[in-house]
Amino acid sequence: MKPTVAPFPAARLRRTRATPALRSLVRQTSLAPSDFIWPVFLMTGKNGSEPISSMPGVSRLTVDNVVKAAKEAHSLGIPAICLFPYTSMEHRTEDCAEAWNPENLTNRAIRAIKDAVPDIAVMTDIALDPYNINGHDGYVENGQIVNDRTVDALVRMALAQAEAGADILGPSDMMDGRIGAIRSALESEHYQNVTILSYTAKYASAFYGPFRDAVGASGALTGDKNTYQMDPANRDEALRLVERDLNEGADMIMVKPGMPYLDICRQVKDAFGVPTFAYQVSGEYAMLMAASQNGWLDGDKVMLESLLCFKRAGCDGVLTYFAPRAARILNDA
Ligand code: PBG
Repeated sequence: MKPTVAPFPAARLRRTRATPALRSLVRQTSLAPSDFIWPVFLMTGKNGSEPISSMPGVSRLTVDNVVKAAKEAHSLGIPAICLFPYTSMEHRTEDCAEAWNPENLTNRAIRAIKDAVPDIAVMTDIALDPYNINGHDGYVENGQIVNDRTVDALVRMALAQAEAGADILGPSDMMDGRIGAIRSALESEHYQNVTILSYTAKYASAFYGPFRDAVGASGALTGDKNTYQMDPANRDEALRLVERDLNEGADMIMVKPGMPYLDICRQVKDAFGVPTFAYQVSGEYAMLMAASQNGWLDGDKVMLESLLCFKRAGCDGVLTYFAPRAARILNDA
């Protein structure tokens, strides 16, 4: 449907922009703390935190401190928290066995959070990179990232997280067939209600740089992720991936990164009408923080604008490191 506009002066489009009251009446999208999933980084130890230099304002947290963060998030109205572990070097091996250790950092954090704040949804990341000696999301054999053996490992990882009490599993590895394999394992092990938010249209992006610092994978990564993550030049492939993941049993899908990929968010939402999320990734966070710390941008304003624009682009929610800061402002408004 083409919008109709009467000729000037019958139509003066500034009329509905003239006052805050009019603007609020015609506003099409809104932003609330309930739109956010908050990604946090885990580290071993007690009562500790370690700032991440490329992500000002973000720190790795020990499990006891992540429980406090989860309580705070819940009291701010943030519905979900997403866990990423910084794995110590001795737990990074060729077989990545730490990934499905019931006592690994992520699984301990899931149990501690679900114990203390049962109402917040805990999301996980499923990929081998925090446990792999070469920083890749899958097993590497003769220089190739192998698909099917990786999927078997991801299934073990998923089941350990479900067993620990995770509410939302986030496969971020981009292997083929992983959603179906994880879904059928969850069904047969009686985890029918565990949801999958698939990193479906995950692009091979340079905007993940600061994240790789945060989880200690930057120095470790050999080569690039171009044989499994998507080419930033492609659009049609994103739609095929979404259809594929939905058919395999994904409940929700994600586009990642966020801001440079809003066209993909809109297209996916229009084509499928399923719960659609975007990840405002570490590099997007770092950009906005760096500019605002230099006094070049108004930090609060660009933060809220960037988050609102995800909603306008069709997203139901956003994974964002800004979650608590944005929630505080929205709650005070
Ligand atoms: C790892 C993973 C990455 C991110 C989330 N999960 C990095 C990567 O694929 O190399 C990036 C998140 C961010 O940049 O904020 N599977």
